[in-house]
Amino acid sequence: MSKKIAVLPGDGIGIEIVAQAVKVLNCLKNDFGLDVEMENGLVGGAAYDDSGTPLPEATLKLAREADAVLLGAVGGYKWESLDIAVRPEKGLLGLRAELELFANLRPAILYPQLAHASTLKPEVVSGLDIMIVRELTGGIYFGQPRGIRVLDNDEKQGFNTLIYKESEIERIAHVAFETAMKRNKKLCSVDKANVLECTELWREVMIRVSKEYPEVELSHMYVDNAAMQLVRAPKQFDVMVTTNMFGDILSDCAAMLTGSIGMLPSASMDKNQKGMYEPIHGSAPDIAGQDMANPMATILSVAMMLRYSLGAEELAIKVENAVESVLDQGLRTEDIYTEGDTKVGTEAMGDAVVAALKT
Ligand code: IPM
Ligand code: MG
Repeated sequence: MSKKIAVLPGDGIGIEIVAQAVKVLNCLKNDFGLDVEMENGLVGGAAYDDSGTPLPEATLKLAREADAVLLGAVGGYKWESLDIAVRPEKGLLGLRAELELFANLRPAILYPQLAHASTLKPEVVSGLDIMIVRELTGGIYFGQPRGIRVLDNDEKQGFNTLIYKESEIERIAHVAFETAMKRNKKLCSVDKANVLECTELWREVMIRVSKEYPEVELSHMYVDNAAMQLVRAPKQFDVMVTTNMFGDILSDCAAMLTGSIGMLPSASMDKNQKGMYEPIHGSAPDIAGQDMANPMATILSVAMMLRYSLGAEELAIKVENAVESVLDQGLRTEDIYTEGDTKVGTEAMGDAVVAALKT
């Protein structure tokens, strides 16, 4: 039976980059026997404009019934002053929560072809291959109580809650240890256990779960130091595991080590291999609609989808090789362009990946 993919382009450059990823999927379908059906849905600002909510019931249903979700990006200037409850970002957070996508895998890989696109020295970043495992449905992003209240003296006070249950830490720990087992068996857990009780518990649970994975070398690092080490000597890391908010911050930092956030895919997984796949960058409203965005992060997200949710490892490798071959040809979108390369737009980059797949 064919697998179902829910395609949710979202806003801004989401639309252009997802179109390139869909080209790749169609090529795999027509030429390489991938058995999938795709159906489009609205999310984020586009959905708000259409129906007054960033996550319409129909989209949620489509995503629930799919085997995998391909998402572009959400948000834009146009919706920035909306109430936080209906902002585009809520569509994304709602999908993560409703589908229980608690494990977010964010690889930061430096393609040798792009060593000079990084702002760090080539010797610091060459060969970089880190996997950040970010908890995605808990922590301060979802903790209650939250809000802005008015105090007796009429002053406003904003508050959020950093909260984790042992079971939530345990399940992300297992994903992280299992990821480490498939790689170099080195796991660094990032917390702020010197200040925050919640992450003191995080550390305690990580140590407890580590007993089930005696082959994995577990280390701990405070988040401030981890941010520093990521730019000082990033190659010391293999797999990192951390909370929702720390993971949000550290994954952007790790992305820049690789030259451009425009290259990095992500997978957000539930406990049954169902996943939502999206580039880690945002909707970039400043360049939307100008055929400038880099579609590679989204195309590489398709590779992750093939690997984790569609059981098509060979096709995943095929897509990754096609991306490398396009980089070898010297084709670059604006964000990864350095002198001497051939500058191309979003469409041309997508077409080049499809052409590379076919050869
Ligand atoms: C990310 C993004 C999201 C997050 C935003 C858009 C809500 O920054 O996926 O990293 O904070 O998780
Ligand atoms: Mg982020």
